[in-house]
Amino acid sequence: MTQRVVPNTSPSFIPDPEQDLSFRPQALFPRPEQPLVLEIGCGIGDFILPLATSRPEVNFLAIDIYNQGCLKTCRKIDAAGLDNVRVMRIEARHLIARYLDPWSLAAIYINCPDPWPKKRHRERRLVNADFLEVVRFALKPGGELFFASDVADYAEEVSALIVNECGFTRLTPEPYCTEVQSDYPISKYMRRFLELGQPIHFVRLRRKNNEVEPPQARPSAVRAGFRVRRETIGK
Ligand SMILES: C[S@@+](CC[C@H](N)C(=O)[O-])C[C@H]1O[C@@H](n2cnc3c(N)ncnc32)[C@H](O)[C@@H]1O
Repeated sequence: MTQRVVPNTSPSFIPDPEQDLSFRPQALFPRPEQPLVLEIGCGIGDFILPLATSRPEVNFLAIDIYNQGCLKTCRKIDAAGLDNVRVMRIEARHLIARYLDPWSLAAIYINCPDPWPKKRHRERRLVNADFLEVVRFALKPGGELFFASDVADYAEEVSALIVNECGFTRLTPEPYCTEVQSDYPISKYMRRFLELGQPIHFVRLRRKNNEVEPPQARPSAVRAGFRVRRETIGK
């Protein structure tokens, strides 16, 4: 599907740095020393707006590959006058592999990622074995990964994969929790499912503090996602 790309002139929007490998998003916040948190697939910004409003001491980078979603997110951020959110239209693995420093993220949020429910499409899911490489690279020890999905088996898979392969501690009950926490904002898709009486499966994981050295090499396993043009993730 081709997206109609309306130029985004919001001060909260960071254009794709294209080939500038020295680009670092944290430098574009008024308080770059604050912890950096990433939301992958921010949609129309319903989640990041309340979260960033309640946490001015944290910088939030909200990304999506969907242009209209980035525009709507920026409109909300600008209307609220928030200076601790920046929005990028960029693919998640591409952003992390190219433009983030090792161990630079205090947390990653992923809410209702595209579910790919059919077994033969599972490898298109964002969080898979390849994705672990970017998590290990970018998330600092003690950092947290928040995952919420309407699809129980996706949440189960993420919970098991990340705890077993990456050495994380599970902060939600195994394999997930379906209770909505009062301090966890409700995204557009979460609301949609909850209103239909369907549960959201939450997984919250904390990276163990047992590593002393950040990784030296950038992640290499940045394969093309189904919805990403191959040329946008080339090295
Ligand atoms: C089902 S929507 C959920 C949106 C929002 N998180 C919510 O819960 O309302 C999934 C979003 O993830 C975005 N997305 C999918 N794959 C992505 C990727 N690899 N990198 C960044 N965004 C992605 C899509 O464009 C879409 O906006």
